[in-house]
Amino acid sequence: MTDRFNLTTQREPGWIERADLAARMLSALRDADPSVQRLADIGCGDRKLARALEAAGLTMDYVGYDLLPQHESVQRFDLDSDRLDHPVDAVALLGVTEYLRDFRSALERLRASSRYVLLSHVLRGPRPPTPQRLAELGWVNHLSDGELRSLVADAGFEICQQDMTPDGKTRVLCGRRT
Ligand SMILES: C[S@@+](CC[C@H](N)C(=O)[O-])C[C@H]1O[C@@H](n2cnc3c(N)ncnc32)[C@H](O)[C@@H]1O
Repeated sequence: MTDRFNLTTQREPGWIERADLAARMLSALRDADPSVQRLADIGCGDRKLARALEAAGLTMDYVGYDLLPQHESVQRFDLDSDRLDHPVDAVALLGVTEYLRDFRSALERLRASSRYVLLSHVLRGPRPPTPQRLAELGWVNHLSDGELRSLVADAGFEICQQDMTPDGKTRVLCGRRT
């Protein structure tokens, strides 16, 4: 397993808690809008969101996409340049927004194909990591909560659900296309 995108830590509990939280938000979204069926999980890694959906009893038409597919069912996709070639109801971006060269443009491209976006972002707190640590992590984006909200709004999504991971570090948002 490569350590690019910190994938050697992908089985740690925090990653699973984030997927479980996202599955609960998608379940609430389905309750609010039963037409939400098709989900593109982009930057899906080892597809733990698919497992979390199954554990939550939520059946969706799920397709995983990733720059570095780890499973034969996962389609190769680069959020920094690619566009989905068919419409979906929702896109999930878990643990990937920190790595995007142009986060806002990626959201704008996805907006053309998806009515909802569910994303996570590790928030910049009062004691941010050093530039050296950010470089080790490979993170290009490390936004405050306000910066994240503005970016999501500027890309054309209105926040309809929000939560934090149990460690209080990672915002998880669901946005509806405006
Ligand atoms: C930190 S992992 C998160 C994986 C998974 N979403 C999860 O929560 O377990 C980041 C994932 O994003 C993928 N990734 C990074 N940059 C990407 C890009 N530009 N386009 C698509 N996937 C990307 C990586 O290959 C990796 O699988």
